[in-house]
Amino acid sequence: MALLNILKYPDPFLKTKAAPVQSIDLEVKKLISDMVETMAMARGIGLAATQVGVGKRVVVLNVPVGENDEERRERGKNLVVLVNPEIVGSSGSITYDEGCLSVPGVTAEVERFSNVTVKALDRDGAPFEIKAEGLFAIALQHEIDHLDGILFIDRLSRLKRELIKRKYKKAMERQDRAL
Ligand code: NI
Repeated sequence: MALLNILKYPDPFLKTKAAPVQSIDLEVKKLISDMVETMAMARGIGLAATQVGVGKRVVVLNVPVGENDEERRERGKNLVVLVNPEIVGSSGSITYDEGCLSVPGVTAEVERFSNVTVKALDRDGAPFEIKAEGLFAIALQHEIDHLDGILFIDRLSRLKRELIKRKYKKAMERQDRAL
């Protein structure tokens, strides 16, 4: 396994659309293992292949699904691997203060579906379906957006997006000075 470099906004690769995985070969299996390790090290709840510079439709998630669920999450027990995920059903709406490993240091409230049904293949190529709500549903939509080249800041109004971009730029400059 290896740690992968997480691309940061405004890296242009984050705007690219990922291609479906044709076969889950050794290369894809290694990508999945590396993404799981990278997500754990970054203490993220989700990571899309696009974020590590790979244009393949692969997502890994580790979302605390219930209350007091941090421990399960830390042990990686809520790990879900999705290859070629597709939202096949959605309903309701929910607003949540989202962040992203590719846009570190800023968060913003994004409105999404509160419930989604997602079809995907697992790491062995077996099809499965997830019915998700709350934070799990939000994370699924956020990560699938990454595969389509969409960041959470793209979901904000123009005014809010400009504010966040300014905040982000300042946060990045502070980080540069600290290094
Ligand atoms: Ni993200």
